Order: sequence, then C-alpha cells, then structure tokens
Amino acid sequence: VSLLPYNTFGIEATAQYFSSFRNAVELQELLEGKSWKGLPKLILGGGSNMLLTKDVAGLVMKNEIKGLEISGEDKDFVYIKCGAGEVWHQFILHCVQNNWAGLENLSLIPGNVGASPMQNIGAYGVEIKDSFYELTALQLEDLSIHTFDNKSCEFGYRESVFKKALKNRFVILDVTYKLRKQPRFNTSYGAIEQELEAMGVEDLSIQAISQAVINIRSSKLPNPAEIGNAGSFFKNPEIPAKVFASLQIDFPGIVGYPLPGDRVKLAAGWLIEQCGWKGYRNGDAGVHAKQALVLVNYGHAKGQEIFDLSTAILESVQAKFGVALEREVNII
Ligand code: FAD
Ligand code: EPU
Repeated sequence: VSLLPYNTFGIEATAQYFSSFRNAVELQELLEGKSWKGLPKLILGGGSNMLLTKDVAGLVMKNEIKGLEISGEDKDFVYIKCGAGEVWHQFILHCVQNNWAGLENLSLIPGNVGASPMQNIGAYGVEIKDSFYELTALQLEDLSIHTFDNKSCEFGYRESVFKKALKNRFVILDVTYKLRKQPRFNTSYGAIEQELEAMGVEDLSIQAISQAVINIRSSKLPNPAEIGNAGSFFKNPEIPAKVFASLQIDFPGIVGYPLPGDRVKLAAGWLIEQCGWKGYRNGDAGVHAKQALVLVNYGHAKGQEIFDLSTAILESVQAKFGVALEREVNII
C-alpha cells in the first residue's frame, strides 16, 4: 500500500501491511492477525510529524477513532473527551465555538487529536499540557487498556513519555481535555498582539485569538497541500545562559528566550538562516524560504534526501555556533 496520501511530507513509500481501526475492539482484533505477528507496528494519525525514509516493514495502522463528548463538568471546567482519530483543528474549532477555552492558541496545527500528547504540541505561548486531563491507551504487548493522567505523561517541550520510555508501546485511543468556562487569554507571543491589532479587535475573545493564530500561521508556514513538509524539523535548542552570553559576543543578533533555571531557548530558525540555508534547494529537497526551521519537499524528494539535508544543516549549525540541534520530526 502506498503511504503517499498519508504523510504531509508527500514522500513516496509503501507499507507491507496497512489497515485502519475505528474503536478499541477493532484494534484488538487487528492486532491478533496472524500475518503480522511479531512484525513491527506503526501507528498513523494525520502523518504530519513524520519523515518516511524507506518502505515500512510490518503493519501500518491508521487510527480512525471518532467521537467527542462532554465527559464531565464542574463550576469552572468542562471535560471534553475526544477520539484519537478526530482532526485536531476541527476539534479546536468546535471548542472555540462552544466557548471552551484553553486550546485556541493551538489552532490550525495539522494532524489528529491522538498525536497531540505524543510531543505535547505547542504554539504561540501554549502547550497542550496546560489543558490536558487524561488519555486512554492500549498497550501493544498485551492489549490491555490504561489511563494516563497529566503527570504520568511526563510532558516536556515537544516531549512525553510516549516518545521516550514508552516509545512504540501504546496506541492512544482518546484524549480528555479540561477546558475553562471563563477564558484566560494568552497573548504573550508578540506576533499575536500585532495581529489582533491589525485585525482591529477591541474586545478580546478566544474566537479572535484563534483567528489571529490562523492568520499568522497561514502567512509563514507552508500549507502541506501545496508544499510537502512536517512543520519545524528541529526543536529549538536549550542552552545554559552562560553559553548564550558568550554566543552573544560573537553573534549580537542571536535570538534567545530566557527559561527558568538559568537556561535560554534559542530560535533554531535563526541559527539555520545564519548558516545560509533559508530558501536552499537541491533537487526537490529544500528549506522553506519564509521559515528556515521548516524543511520542504517540492515534489518528488526521497525521504532519505530530506534526511541527508537535515544532517548537513545539523553539522553546519554545530560548526558555526557549537550548538547541537535535535530533530523534532519522527524519523521512520
Ligand atoms: P503522525 O504524524 O501521524 O504521528 C506522529 C507520531 O505519533 C508518530 O510517531 C506516530 O506513530 C505517533 N502516533 C500518532 N497517533 C498516535 C496514536 N493515536 N497513538 C500512539 N502513537 C501515535 N507541531 C507542534 O507542536 N506545533 C506546531 O505549531 C506545529 N505546526 C506544524 C505546522 C505544519 C505545517 C505541519 C505540517 C506540522 C506542524 N506540527 C506542529 C507537527 C504536527 O502537526 C504535530 O506533531 C501533530 O500533533 C502530528 O499529528 P499527526 O496525527 O499528524 O501525527
Ligand atoms: N527566525 C529567523 N529565521 C527564520 C525563522 C525564524 O531568524 O527563518 C527567528 C526569528 O527571530 C523569529 C524566531 O526565530 O522571531 C521565532 O520564529 P517563529 O515565531 O516562527 O517560531 P519558531 O521558533 O521557528 C516555534 C515552534 C513552532 C510554533 C511556533 C509558534 C518549535 C520547534 N517550533 O517555531 O512549532 O508553531 O514556534 O509558537 O518549537 C512545529 O513544532 O512543527 C512548529 C511549527
């Protein structure tokens, strides 16, 4: 089965076996199939955070668990339980329409709800961990179902336990978010304030914030329907404040944001741009002209070509700044 329609990088690769499931029982039945006993399994959501570097051996399983319900409510919060196979942005729009607040800054992130805890998706000053309540997941090893609360997901910047100790061991079935009835607006990210002003917004609302984020994202991130990509290819590296201070001497324009614990988060896009990569193209593999942190496929690039380009970028950033970049995208 060709995986071309299932990954936003637009990479041509095949799956040895491919199937989808709509609920936990279908998933359990699928996993009991004899043909793929003992073979690797890859769980697929929207395919917007992976780079396929070769054909996939074993079974690719597309999560199509749908459904959304209010699973609880108290004075201040509503608890929304959402199937892993729902499209993230549709879920956000639904929340925003219903005045359930907390996730509006995460509008227009591609992919499905089930992948949102995987890397604790974040944008414009918010991460899902700020509103995450719990999830249920099926353990591949014995098909048992477990609940994970916020703490047991071990969320960090673009990290969770599912990318680390429990990598490839659980299929997320549904995610419950705890959303506020009274919003707490987060406009800390400079670009949001500017956009709200440009939009002429006077009464701040989660609807306005959602629209501002949609506008900003549309103006600088490539639409995967037009140019293949998986968003930021690397994480923004975190370094000690002392190291940042010495880099500032050599590179006065370097962009960094202070973090707790005397650390600084660097803008990887700036580092990559300074190494001359912005707008670079070799064959169909390239670096986006408006955002150097985003690698792109202009048509028929092979996954390995994109990967090799990422290695060349890593090496040049290391050589110029002595800073190690780490890939954010899941390399398959
Ligand atoms: P996939 O790509 O299908 O899967 C990602 C990983 O999670 C894979 O390892 C997969 O095996 C695993 N997985 C998927 N679903 C499940 C499940 N149900 N159970 C267990 N494992 C699972 N990310 C951000 O954080 N912030 C951004 O601002 C952002 N902007 C982006 C902009 C663009 C244009 C693009 C293309 C991507 C962007 N991303 C961003 C990355 C991506 O959208 C998110 O990581 C998203 O959550 C991926 O969802 P998906 O369903 O497509 O995951
Ligand atoms: N910059 C450059 N050149 C570039 C790109 C960026 O100099 O080509 C500098 C600019 O100074 C800019 C700063 O980097 O002010 C930050 O850029 P931007 O606001 O575009 O954000 P980012 O750090 O590149 C991060 C996330 C995005 C998220 C945005 C908004 C990571 C790895 N990326 O990007 O997430 O949408 O902030 O919050 O943390 C993703 O994970 O796929 C993703 C797109």
